[in-house]
Amino acid sequence: MIKINQKIDYPLEHSTECLILPWIEVKKPNALLKEIDSKLQGTIGEAIDQKRFSGKFGQTLLLNSKNIVKASNLLLLGVGKTKEVTPEKICQAAATAVKLAEGSKFKSVSADLSILEVISKGKSGLYGELAGAIAEGAGLALYHFENYKSKDEKDDPPRRIEKLTLLTSSKLRHASTEKAIIRAEKIISAVHTARDLISHPGNTVTPNYLAEHAKKMARKNKINCKVLGQKEMERLGMGSLLGVSQGSDEPPALIVLEYIGAGKKKAPSVIVGKGVTFDTGGISLKPGASMDEMKMDMSGAATTLATLQLIASLKLKMNVVGIVAAAENMPSGSAIKPGDILKSMSGKTIEVLNTDAEGRLVLADALTYAQRYKPKEVIDLATLTGAVLHALGHQAAAVVGNNSAMIQKLKDAGNSTGERVWELPLWEEYEKATKSDIADLKNIASPGVGAGTIMGAAFLKAFAGEQPWTHIDIAGTAWGFDRPYTNKGASGFGVRLLLRYFEKSR
Ligand code: BES
Ligand code: ZN
Ligand code: ZN
Repeated sequence: MIKINQKIDYPLEHSTECLILPWIEVKKPNALLKEIDSKLQGTIGEAIDQKRFSGKFGQTLLLNSKNIVKASNLLLLGVGKTKEVTPEKICQAAATAVKLAEGSKFKSVSADLSILEVISKGKSGLYGELAGAIAEGAGLALYHFENYKSKDEKDDPPRRIEKLTLLTSSKLRHASTEKAIIRAEKIISAVHTARDLISHPGNTVTPNYLAEHAKKMARKNKINCKVLGQKEMERLGMGSLLGVSQGSDEPPALIVLEYIGAGKKKAPSVIVGKGVTFDTGGISLKPGASMDEMKMDMSGAATTLATLQLIASLKLKMNVVGIVAAAENMPSGSAIKPGDILKSMSGKTIEVLNTDAEGRLVLADALTYAQRYKPKEVIDLATLTGAVLHALGHQAAAVVGNNSAMIQKLKDAGNSTGERVWELPLWEEYEKATKSDIADLKNIASPGVGAGTIMGAAFLKAFAGEQPWTHIDIAGTAWGFDRPYTNKGASGFGVRLLLRYFEKSR
């Protein structure tokens, strides 16, 4: 993770390899921009005249400024029109800038925050949010998963930015910038934790690895943690979750984390995460192409663990329980077969018509277990269906639930963090299509029913309880989420969304 610090300094007197200057789209440049331009002998004015740069959102212009100002290079960064600037846009713009800086082989960069004063004028709290967004965007964008690369001396190792300095020109802003940095670092660290867990291959991240990670994280953050193993799950009658893991040599785990940040008697929010550490499809085996990516099928679990870490590190005044249903889905002589019937902890029986629809099977028992907490609300996160990729691609997660007010709040949180969610309906016809001829439920609908993502949710609803519940299908966004502050692969989608949701709904 990059180091982020603050310095009170005047941008033109500040020496650095690369100085990022956020630039609003204005017809007439303000005093600072004018001064810079005159020092650069009108280079910027020329770029603006020639329409190479205007300050439009996301635009960049890298200029060599050696011997002109103290910074060796200036990176002008368009943030768009003042009125249209949002923290999410600033987060994205900062990400674009640091990626360009890293690609240009700079090792440390500075970003001038003085323009944020102009943007946030008269809006209380906005300055801090924007400063935090710069730190967050930069920190998230500079994530690299390099745990398995040997450091070969002969190889030319890639250059990485190690340090970001935020420049504030007024002492007045020092405290709010400092607070923003501390908060951003906690967010970055949580998202990176989720990305790491997802990026590790299936032979590293097993159910047991998730359990050990959870225990360590819980100890650090003063969270209660218990892990139910196979025996305890058998005692509880979790036949649905156990059915999935029975074909694997890796023992399953039900990981339960309890964070108490409010009165002990206050009903908690429960987050349930799908933790299939590798999904081969089981006997309903998946095709070979890209099967390696199914190491990401524990993304819901990763987001759950990272969100608890973040909530605890920010000391939110709320109670949250995280439940991770961890298992590996393998084909073997002991694996469940199409047609097998499982008995879930709820007592409901499930006809398994496709062993690749295993996420809903592990979640069924975890959702039933969640009822023990008499929750205020339940959110489950799961890479549940390929169908969500057809519906929304890598742009948004699908949400399906039983409470429209809750869904609206999640949508709002999604719009302000960029981790967008899109609602799909849950009409009773879909629920009917989950009924089996010979058991209570079947894990896939009959051919022709379609609506794959909704059908997954309709199945889960049978286990979700009566309190507000929302299912978030992150199969399209946990991996390959398309944002300037993400990279190829794991995104950690959901951590920032849930933080925002909890902070706003309290
Ligand atoms: N883990 C997959 C869903 C998935 C697909 C995640 C693509 C990420 C990217 C899930 O367990 C699965 O296989 N779902 C099936 C359900 C079907 C059998 C009803 C699917 O989507 O094909
Ligand atoms: Zn599957
Ligand atoms: Zn799966």
